[in-house]
Amino acid sequence: MPLADAPAPRRGLFVSFEGGDGAGKSTQVALLGERLAAAGHEVVLTREPGGTALGRTLRTAVLHGEHLDARTEALIYAADRAHHVASLVRPALARGAVVVTDRYLDSSVAYQGSGRDLGADEVERLSLWAVDGLLPDVTVLLDLDPDVGRGRLTGEPDRLESAGDDFHRRTREAFLGRAAADPGRWLVLDATRPVAELAAAVGERVGAALATAVRS
Ligand code: TYD
Repeated sequence: MPLADAPAPRRGLFVSFEGGDGAGKSTQVALLGERLAAAGHEVVLTREPGGTALGRTLRTAVLHGEHLDARTEALIYAADRAHHVASLVRPALARGAVVVTDRYLDSSVAYQGSGRDLGADEVERLSLWAVDGLLPDVTVLLDLDPDVGRGRLTGEPDRLESAGDDFHRRTREAFLGRAAADPGRWLVLDATRPVAELAAAVGERVGAALATAVRS
């Protein structure tokens, strides 16, 4: 591969938040961002799908457009993620920023792999190919019973929110299974705990990861 095409080296820290709809991810992303900025870090807060201009078009198509078969849906999420990582996440990490994303590839493995039944291994392979292997340093799972999550949602449900109880139960189990298999990357928190307690637990874990990243 010519040198110009090699991914930029990473110096920053990459953090993702995962969990069902209504788990409070966007609140915790914002609180972590404030905490890191106050400590003097360059912070990039972003999301999937829709962290880029192209991503916002793809987000509308996948969440609010016509019916899509499961493979098309998986490929749209993968395309959003490939462009997000290449154009925003990797350059920010190369500058030394802390990148915090509301959802990343574990959402595809859980929602498309297990929820839609495409197969977790296949969707993981597709997702890792899309991002040339980039995994977060820390992934926070805000775990919540889908029945409770549904009660917290406002507005018209999108295509994924409308997918049914079994789908959301499979998705939750997939997140918990992935987290149990890789405790070095994942922090699992009970999303019914108070917002400030959750933020403190997240801050502690990310602080520890930053201290390790600085030493290495
Ligand atoms: P999100 O932005 O978290 O929803 P909202 O802003 O409505 O709270 O995610 C949108 C939906 O997309 C959510 O139901 C989960 C789903 N999703 C997937 O199915 N696969 C993926 O890879 C990603 C990133 C999200």
